[in-house]
Amino acid sequence: MKIGIGSDHAGFNLKKSLIGFLTEKGHEVVDYGTFSVDRVDYPDYALIVSKHVVKQDVEFGILICGTGIGMSIAANKVRGIRAALVYDELTARLAKEHNHANIICIGERTTPLEEAKLIVDTFIKAHRESRHETRIEKIAEIEKVKN
Ligand code: RB5
Repeated sequence: MKIGIGSDHAGFNLKKSLIGFLTEKGHEVVDYGTFSVDRVDYPDYALIVSKHVVKQDVEFGILICGTGIGMSIAANKVRGIRAALVYDELTARLAKEHNHANIICIGERTTPLEEAKLIVDTFIKAHRESRHETRIEKIAEIEKVKN
């Protein structure tokens, strides 16, 4: 599976570890940065990964910051993105099955590495359930609303 990944400085170390984990499992991982622990702004990386997910350059995206919160807020501003902040196997599975998430967000400060590995593994193995399609379409309708 081709997966896009991005982080800010606070998610850099977890990103590095997850790239190793996913690569070892045979996935192709495209790293959209950041590439060091120097301070950066998480919305910049949320936008890069989101754009590639919408263009379907990758099958889904992983965004990591300190808590995953900022990344999820920013990514969900991009039309077509359903970014889910997940923190265990259950939320990872339901984000795919119920919410058809195309990005998962993880916090390096809140999620230990072993849990993060289980999260990405679970998300990859889960399937979108078609019975939730109407709700997903309603989310897309909200994107068309002009405030
Ligand atoms: C950076 O210090 C931190 O605010 C960021 O990584 C993230 O946790 C924001 O939601």
